[in-house]
Formats: sequence, C-alpha cells, structure tokens
Amino acid sequence: MKHSFSNPFPWYNHMLKQNPVTYDEDFLHYFGAKGTWHIFRYDDVQKVFQDHETFSNEYFPKIAESPVSIAMSVTDPPRHKQLRLLISKAFTPKAIEDMKPWIEQITHELLDQVEDKGEMDVTRDLAVPIPIQVIAKLLGISHKDQDKFKKWSIMFAKQPSEVDGGAEGYFQAQKEMSEYFLRMIKFRKQEPEDDLISQLLQAEVDGEKLSANDVLAFCILLLIAGNETTTNLINNAIFTFIEHPEVQEHLIDHPEDITKAIEEVLRYRSPLQYINRIAAKDTELRGKRIKKGDFINLWMGSANRDESVFANPNEFDIHRTNLKHTAFGHGIHYCMGAPLARLEANIALRVLLGRLHQFQLKDHKQPVMNQSAVTYSIKEFPVTFQKR
Ligand code: HEM
Repeated sequence: MKHSFSNPFPWYNHMLKQNPVTYDEDFLHYFGAKGTWHIFRYDDVQKVFQDHETFSNEYFPKIAESPVSIAMSVTDPPRHKQLRLLISKAFTPKAIEDMKPWIEQITHELLDQVEDKGEMDVTRDLAVPIPIQVIAKLLGISHKDQDKFKKWSIMFAKQPSEVDGGAEGYFQAQKEMSEYFLRMIKFRKQEPEDDLISQLLQAEVDGEKLSANDVLAFCILLLIAGNETTTNLINNAIFTFIEHPEVQEHLIDHPEDITKAIEEVLRYRSPLQYINRIAAKDTELRGKRIKKGDFINLWMGSANRDESVFANPNEFDIHRTNLKHTAFGHGIHYCMGAPLARLEANIALRVLLGRLHQFQLKDHKQPVMNQSAVTYSIKEFPVTFQKR
C-alpha cells in the first residue's frame, strides 16, 4: 500500500498493523537527504520524542546562508535549553494573550470582505491571512511593509523547488528577508518598542543575551513553524465541520465546545503529519537496528490514529475524553506556539460561526490538497454559506 497526499490515513492504518517501524531507502527529504525510518505507533513516536540524547534534532544541514540552520528547533541541548529559556522570556503567555483583540479584529475584517458574497475560498480569504497578520503584529512589522511580509510568509510555506525562480528565487527572497529583519533588529536595539523583537533583544539569562543572528533565526522560525501550521488547523477544522454538519450546528449552539473540537481536529487531521530526527548513536526500536546518522520520520498523523490509544481512531468525535494527541510534539521541543495556535483557531472559529453558518463545499467539489506529506494542507477550498 502507498502513501496518498489527500488521504494518508489508510496507509497509516496498514503500517500501524503491518510494519510500524520500517526503513524506506527512496524517501527524499525536503532538505535534500535520501532515506529514512518511518515510525507510526503512538508509543514509539512518544518514546523517540522523549529520548533526545539518542534522537537528535540536528538533522538540518548547516547551510551558511540559511539563518534557519541555527534555530532552536534544529538544535540539541545544552544550546537548545539556553535558546528556549531566553526566548520564553520574551514569547510569554502575556504576549500571546495580548494578541486576543487583534485576532478578533483581523477575523472580523476578513469576514466583512466576503460575508455578502455568500461564498469564499477559506484558504485564501481566512486561513492564510489570519496567522500571517498575527505574526506581523507580534513582530512589529509596520503597515507599509505588510505586503512584502505576506509575500515572504507565503513563500516560506513552500518547498524551494515550488517557488517562482526555483531554489535560487527562494534563497534570494530569504536573503532579502534576512536583511530586512537585521535592519529592524538594529533599529530596535537602539530604540526598543513594544514588540517581540525588542523583548527578544532585552531577554537575559545568567548574563547571556541573544545575538542579532539568534533573533533573526527565531523571526524566520516563527514564519516557518507558525504560519502554515495554523492555516492548516483553521482549514482542517472547517473542512471537518463541513463533513459533519451536525457538529457545525452543535458548535453554533454550544460555542463553549469549540475548544475541544479543535483538539479533536488536531488529532484527526494533524496540521503537521511528521517531524524529523537523526540518530545520534546506534540504537534499536521494536527489534529494528537504527544506525548512527540515520534519518527518522516521526508520523504524528499516524500516532494520532493508533487504535491502541484512541478508541475508533478514524471517527471524528468532539466529545472524546482522551485528548493526549501528539500534534504539537512532546518533550523538550514541544511546540512553543501551541497556546497561540489554539487561541487563533478558537477566536477565528468563534467569530466565523457567530456570523455565518450552513457551510458547504462549493458545487460539492472536494478541496484541492497541497502535494505535501509533511502537512495535511488544503490549497484551494471554495465554500458557500449563509449569513446568520
Ligand atoms: C515546535 C507543531 C504552531 C512555534 C513544534 C513542534 C511541532 C509543532 C510538532 C515540535 C518539533 C520537534 O519536536 O522537532 C505545530 C502545530 C501548529 C504550530 C501543529 C499549529 C496548529 C506554531 C506557532 C508558533 C510555533 C503559531 C509560533 C508563533 C514553534 C517553535 C517550535 C515549534 C518556535 C520549536 C520549539 C523547540 O524546538 O523547542 N511545533 N506548531 N508553532 N513550534 Fe509549533
């Protein structure tokens, strides 16, 4: 049985039972390497997440021109611990809570533009712009630079080969963006403002501060880690509610259940389907010998459908009581933006269902999926709706 981008779940069901730890020598990683272990079961995925000494995050090639290669998501302790501590001084629960009114305002403004039309493309009109505008606001991007920022953000959600101008165009844009952020970092160092970049520059632990390059790496990491994933969460929620009209109706009458509906969407259609590790030493998993230097794909999308953990895993049930999905990872690299992603999805869906209802796929056509195994992500998503 083969993997399918639009519906990887039958493949997971098969592999969970038949081949839960398996080597695939033809697998091509987005950063160019070939060959990987696939790990499908919940317990194995969690075990690898927890054992950061055996399974390293330093899988991304150290490319000099890519600021991402020093970001905390691809760094091991002790450097990872140091970076995470410093960043968490600035990226605080309060900084996230302060975004609440903005997320509400952004969602209302976006809906004002489509409400009277009775139709929209959810990806284009709602799910892409919300996280981009939230991160722009967090970072303190000025109004005049918003369009530029949006262009870069959309670009970094793609693979280098999919961008206009190919890998060269991608790295050129990354260079432009890095120069833009480095200028901004320089200005904020001289004159701090009330934004995340200024806070990051001031953060201090045991007399140590983040360098300009560390702040740059984090800014770019926010774009890569925080935009498309949240877009997928909002899209996947609306898609799943359309498939379950009774849930759509229930949530309109019981908006207080939106929070648990989002957790079930995270499990049922995880925005990120897998994440990488690289073996730091020879080891063994489920009797298979993994060699130092081997790449590993941890399939959270599959772990979240493991029937030994979730009863009837292929059913979407917002009243499920076991909410221990692994969509945000586990252990020392657990998603730093999880509270923000949850807040964005919660407000967006609350505002949406407060104003509109009876969502349906336009002309009953299935949405067009992005051809990506890493994400469960909808590219074109035309829907119709009624005003409430
Ligand atoms: C890490 C998923 C939204 C920032 C991670 C990891 C996962 C994940 C699985 C763990 C990576 C690993 O173990 O190697 C998601 C999903 C999101 C989301 C599904 C949306 C639904 C966000 C947002 C932000 C963010 C909105 C910030 C604005 C980060 C950062 C890390 C991370 C900085 C690295 C943490 C570390 O290495 O210690 N995310 N993420 N994420 N995420 Fe998210």
